[in-house]
Amino acid sequence: MSTVKEKLIEKLIEDDKDSQCKITIVGIGAVGMACAISILLKDLADELVLIDVASDKLKGEMMDLQHGSLFFSTSKITSGKDYSISANSKIVIVTAGARQQEGETRLALVQRNVAVMKSIIPPIVHCSPDCKILVVSNPVDILTYVVWKISGLPATCVIGSGCNLDSARFRYLIGEKLGVHPTSCHGWIIGEHGDSSVIYKFLTSVLYLSALMEWGECCWCCSEDPGP
Ligand SMILES: NC(=O)c1ccc[n+]([C@@H]2O[C@H](COP(=O)([O-])OP(=O)(O)OC[C@H]3O[C@@H](n4cnc5c(N)ncnc54)[C@H](O)[C@@H]3O)[C@@H](O)[C@H]2O)c1
Repeated sequence: MSTVKEKLIEKLIEDDKDSQCKITIVGIGAVGMACAISILLKDLADELVLIDVASDKLKGEMMDLQHGSLFFSTSKITSGKDYSISANSKIVIVTAGARQQEGETRLALVQRNVAVMKSIIPPIVHCSPDCKILVVSNPVDILTYVVWKISGLPATCVIGSGCNLDSARFRYLIGEKLGVHPTSCHGWIIGEHGDSSVIYKFLTSVLYLSALMEWGECCWCCSEDPGP
């Protein structure tokens, strides 16, 4: 006969053993943890896995997130150094590797971070052959290509963060200059994420008026046709 406690917590439906949207983050430095918190607060995953080479840091970061469980719906947060923990991830975010020191360019990181990609991508793909990989580590455009080559995944399954950060910064700066919220400012930075990226000025507009008009430059909304 079941106890009162068992009756009170009786399960009406079976537990879903497989996660529907498992996300793994490899590299839990500043960028990896910002990704983790964003994923949790936006309720994007039903399982979140953290992987890094630094065991103590890994345990501490995982515990901090677990202790915040009251504030988000993701039911399972785990961590480890062994990639088997990431098995069957839908998305793997790669933020592992060296970051720039003062005065160093992103391109200077290439050798060190290619070596990191060579060590982490094969086990990621072995454990999650159907995943999509989002590359953030720098130099991000070169590493995205390297990850695609090492992984053997279709090109559509390996995505680099590209100039999204630069574009967000640009939109913030236009908004700050004109006193308008960045969501009302539209614009793109294109090219390689790094020192050679450029503003795509013909797609730059604020509330459908060009910010560049404000600064006395020609734009798409002027009577003059800027061409394709
Ligand atoms: N694409 C972008 O827009 C963008 C923006 C900011 C930073 N970044 C890049 O993201 C990367 C991470 O930046 P960060 O500020 O978080 O650096 P960080 O130094 O704070 O963290 C890097 C983490 O990677 C881990 N790591 C190193 N080698 C590893 C390996 N082989 N396996 C697993 N983990 C490993 C480290 O232990 C560390 O926790 C850097 O390359 C940085 O340049 C890219």
